[in-house]
Amino acid sequence: MIVSQQDLERLISSRRTSKPSWFNDQEPDHADVRHAIDVARKAPNHHRTEPARFYLLDKSRIKEVGRLFGEIVAGDSPDEFLIDRAAKKTTEWSSSPGLIVVTCFTDHSSELVASKPNAIEEDYATCACICQNLLLLLHNLGIAAKWSTGPVWKHRDFRQVVGIPNPPPDERVIALIFYGHTEKTAPPPTYSPIEMKLSDYSNSP
Ligand SMILES: Cc1cc2nc3c(=O)[nH]c(=O)nc-3n(C[C@H](O)[C@H](O)[C@H](O)COP(=O)(O)O)c2cc1C
Repeated sequence: MIVSQQDLERLISSRRTSKPSWFNDQEPDHADVRHAIDVARKAPNHHRTEPARFYLLDKSRIKEVGRLFGEIVAGDSPDEFLIDRAAKKTTEWSSSPGLIVVTCFTDHSSELVASKPNAIEEDYATCACICQNLLLLLHNLGIAAKWSTGPVWKHRDFRQVVGIPNPPPDERVIALIFYGHTEKTAPPPTYSPIEMKLSDYSNSP
């Protein structure tokens, strides 16, 4: 056994999503986060395409992303509720001490995609595995995180703020991972009994 089964199970089971509004003033160790990103990449990857791209943002870019998301949430509507929600989102996102934007790059005009269109979906699957690796590594470092798909990528300025070089659909945003420290933990979700989800033939004669 490489790490104890009990420790690994505890790591997976105890990871919880934390809201960026829960993060306190303690600065996360961004060098640790950078190293976690490097390790997280070691996920299963059909055709060895290495599709994930990471953008580890600084405070000014995080603020900008928060501002852009506020504009997306508010839209053009004069609706007071939306304006208030947008302001809250801007404050919540902008004050996060850390943010990683994870994108998935697949060249849609490549020979691989022409011969194996499924590679697009497989690349997404690899990126999702990488995100979970990353969440677990951060959790083990005592760094809380949230995977968000809030559609800030719809903002016309988003790619320029983050520095994403390739246009969609080749490079698409799959996760905004907010991270920081907090004393708060969300209660664990309830899961349906495994019998409802697993067809177990392992004891068949
Ligand atoms: C692909 C993906 C997208 C998510 N997007 C959001 C989001 O936009 N906003 C949000 O509040 N949570 C988002 N989450 C977090 C989930 O809501 C969270 O994982 C779920 O409530 C279960 O909680 P847990 O992570 O503590 O187990 C996302 C999670 C995944 C995997």
